[in-house]
Amino acid sequence: MTSRFYRSPLAVTAAVLFGALPSSSIAAAPKECPPWLAADEPVVSQSMEQADINSGALGFQEIFDHGERLFVARFNTCDGAGRPESTGGGDKRAVPMFSEEGEPVTAAQVAKLRTSAPDSDACAGCHNQPEAGGAGDFVANVFVLAQTFDPVTLSVSPLRGNSRNTLGMHGAGPIEMLAREMTADLRAQFAALPAQAGTYTLTTKGVDFDVEIDSAKNVLEAEGIDHDLIIKPFHQAGKVVSLREFSNNAMNHHHGMQAEERFDLNPAKGFDPDHDGDGHLRELTIGDQTAISVWQAALATPTQVLPWRKEDREQIRYGEEVFSDIGCTSCHVPSMVLDSRDFVEPNPYNPPGTCNNQGALAGLCPDYSFDMTRLGDKPRLEKGPNDTAIVRAYTDLKRHNLCDDPGPGAIRWFCNEQLAQGRPDQDGKPGTEFFLTRKLWDVGNTAPYGHRGDVGTITEAILLHGGEGRASRDAFEARSTADQRALVAFLKTLRAEPGR
Ligand code: HEC
Ligand code: HEC
Repeated sequence: MTSRFYRSPLAVTAAVLFGALPSSSIAAAPKECPPWLAADEPVVSQSMEQADINSGALGFQEIFDHGERLFVARFNTCDGAGRPESTGGGDKRAVPMFSEEGEPVTAAQVAKLRTSAPDSDACAGCHNQPEAGGAGDFVANVFVLAQTFDPVTLSVSPLRGNSRNTLGMHGAGPIEMLAREMTADLRAQFAALPAQAGTYTLTTKGVDFDVEIDSAKNVLEAEGIDHDLIIKPFHQAGKVVSLREFSNNAMNHHHGMQAEERFDLNPAKGFDPDHDGDGHLRELTIGDQTAISVWQAALATPTQVLPWRKEDREQIRYGEEVFSDIGCTSCHVPSMVLDSRDFVEPNPYNPPGTCNNQGALAGLCPDYSFDMTRLGDKPRLEKGPNDTAIVRAYTDLKRHNLCDDPGPGAIRWFCNEQLAQGRPDQDGKPGTEFFLTRKLWDVGNTAPYGHRGDVGTITEAILLHGGEGRASRDAFEARSTADQRALVAFLKTLRAEPGR
């Protein structure tokens, strides 16, 4: 057991209530190794306190740099890596002797396992193209939901996990804010509906969501969104509200690093300061999780990179027209307007266990915000008129079903999943066929493609669209090779190009 100093949540609250802290308190309690590893040291030796973020004692750059440090750190035992007594879903477990399949598991396998995880040392171990925070190769796929198995699973079978490819977070700040504005819109329209059974169309930023309600205004069916009408822009199946919620989950899942807001300070986890039983307290402070969220939100915004030659540029302009003419833009909406340029942390729609300024966490994480058009890596979010911003992400942030019956012998890659992801209380019937319209603003340099990352070319990814995408896919197939080339050339100009 370590003898780590544990600052109580009360001390944090007091610091928030009583304003700026003396500068000597800017550094949170330093981390240290347990006595038997005293010759070594943690990778991130200092946490960040939320009170120092809110008081202004820490500037944007310091918060950003700390977020990056946490994202690229290859966490070790002294940091608190590992979760012997908790699953990757965050539930308490006994130290397993046998796998789900009944095979013996060794202590080493419980410490690190490619399927049920901890499966890596650093976030950047998977998210690294073209830089930390970006997308990943097929080899970095995650077996999503395998982490929830208790005992662990040794199998990569689709019955034990959905193999998903690593996405990039360039532009993720604008995406989270877009989802937040759309959710507020949808909920306001829902509140104004009459208590009369029927199907109503709610519309936000030009995207329609059909919602069926009963006479008590219970949602019976919701098209492309969960029944709680919260747009969840993260996970390819659209299941997570914010960068912060994702980061809390990922830290526990992939590294066995536990965010205090999700565990130590969470009544649902019994305020257990060492839920994972590894002897480490305060592995990730509220301030740490603000920093890693802010860093991801402030990564470079993807951009269009046009070639020099005039005839090449003309081909690309023509390809963009074809993309629109054949209906791709009905889902891959080229641009949306953000009413506010600010990224505001935390997200008020976060579920319990992730800071949202409600319940047990009320007062512990007051808002921290920054203007995405003025701070963060370049290229930054594009300004629009009247303090708005323009998000050119090529998505409607809505879930669609691209499955249909493509006929005998066809390989249905986009319809491969067997485990439903999500909570029935939010989703009604979570399905395995539904995916968010994939953002295309970085498609030019984030191969491989498709949710499983098993598609090598953009053309194959297009030809695999069935179901709701069938008509525009067939229209693509019917076009001349020159038209198809122009469309693909256009998509290849959309790239994550940090520093450009
Ligand atoms: C083992 C590889 C791996 C590691 C390690 C990893 N990720 Fe991921 N990440 C993925 C995959 C795969 C996805 C896509 C998941 C899906 O669609 O279900 C993803 C998705 C995300 C997303 C959502 C992106 C979007 O647009 O939907 C965020 C945010 C994220 N990761 C943050 C993190 C953070 C923070 C860490 C470290 C604490 C981390 N990831 C560690 C593989 C990884
Ligand atoms: C009905 C909505 C819809 C329409 C119409 C549609 N798409 Fe998609 N698109 C999606 C969804 C959903 C995905 C995610 C598929 C998956 O991985 O399961 C996707 C994925 C893609 C991808 C893969 C991107 C990546 O990074 O993996 C490309 C490329 C793409 N679409 C291009 C197109 C083109 C070109 C058209 C027009 C011919 C089109 N789409 C029409 C919904 C749509």
